[in-house]
Amino acid sequence: MSSMGKRETPLRILIVGAGAVGLFYGSRLHQPQSNVLVSLVCRSNYNAIKSNGVKLQTHSFGDYIFHPEHVFNSVQAADCIGHWDYVVVTTKALPPSDASKSEANLIRPVVSEGTTIVLIQNGIGIEKPYADAFPSNALLSTVTVVSAEQLEQGMVRQNRWTRISIGPWNSAGPKRGEERMKEFADILKSGGVKDAEMYDERGLQFVRWHKIAINASFNPSSVLSNGASNSGMAADPLLKTHILGTMYEVLRLAEVVLQSPLPSKFATPEKIVESSLRNTAKSEGEASRPSMWYDWAGGKPLELEVILGNVVREAERVNVEVPRIQSMYALLYMAQKRRDDANKKAKL
Ligand SMILES: NC(=O)c1ccc[n+]([C@@H]2O[C@H](COP(=O)([O-])OP(=O)(O)OC[C@H]3O[C@@H](n4cnc5c(N)ncnc54)[C@H](OP(=O)(O)O)[C@@H]3O)[C@@H](O)[C@H]2O)c1
Repeated sequence: MSSMGKRETPLRILIVGAGAVGLFYGSRLHQPQSNVLVSLVCRSNYNAIKSNGVKLQTHSFGDYIFHPEHVFNSVQAADCIGHWDYVVVTTKALPPSDASKSEANLIRPVVSEGTTIVLIQNGIGIEKPYADAFPSNALLSTVTVVSAEQLEQGMVRQNRWTRISIGPWNSAGPKRGEERMKEFADILKSGGVKDAEMYDERGLQFVRWHKIAINASFNPSSVLSNGASNSGMAADPLLKTHILGTMYEVLRLAEVVLQSPLPSKFATPEKIVESSLRNTAKSEGEASRPSMWYDWAGGKPLELEVILGNVVREAERVNVEVPRIQSMYALLYMAQKRRDDANKKAKL
């Protein structure tokens, strides 16, 4: 692992959303020897992390404990630090509970002049609310393929992979998005994430759409098949046809939206299905099921809008048919609404 040399003034990074992804990447970004200091905004795991730090069991770096500079129990509390160089959003990408407000409102107290906002989240169309809310701040959009889970409060297991793809979002003008992207990638690399990759804006969107082709096919299909695993879906002839058809639907739409053919470096749907067949290792236990299944099984909100809804809306905008995606979105939207309505009634 290469160290970056000590900065004279500390560079401060705030992770908002201290779950599996935020805690894993936060622990790699935290490099006190170089004066790069990571702090966390926690919610349900605040007490555990405040008392004991974060325990990590990682495939790539072994086991270790990460002691952040500060642990806050709300974004407002983190406002006590005068300036954050980076605010990294790693919550699930969900619609705001108050529909009249933007999801970007969450980080408003900690964004000041010169703060770079980094999104590490799945989904299509996640950047716009942040770009609209903070037009003068640099915004980095990132896509990760890490497989990580929070086993218990403050304890994260990284099962495999570290790759994170980073691109500036609309970085024209004085916002210095490209410079910030390079700095952020360098910190990750010096923290051992060797495959922190940089893209231009359109290149990153291709990475995002390619990841969504995978998420939008396997994730809802797992929920709709009562928890089938990725390998189980790839092995079943009927579901394999459905998964391949869905991935092609998304990739064809991506080519229309981004007005360019998919770069040849990306794995084809057939290759993705083939590698999913091998994803059966018992030691990874339940990790071979998509996270949307666990969210559904745990009664939690699904990342439905950014994984399916925004794809349907983009398809409508450019007049492309996505019948498989549209059907899964309609079914899961209603399933989630009925579940939530029933829960609300049961509480009355
Ligand atoms: N896990 C993976 O392997 C993986 C891989 C690739 C991409 N992703 C994507 O990465 C993103 C993050 O996923 P994840 O698996 O890390 O999710 P996660 O484990 O559920 O973590 C999200 C965290 O955000 C916190 N949070 C949510 N709203 C908050 C708020 N208003 N204030 C403070 N904290 C808040 C949650 O707190 P509570 O615990 O209190 O709810 C939770 O700790 C998602 O878009 C996901 O699709 C995940």
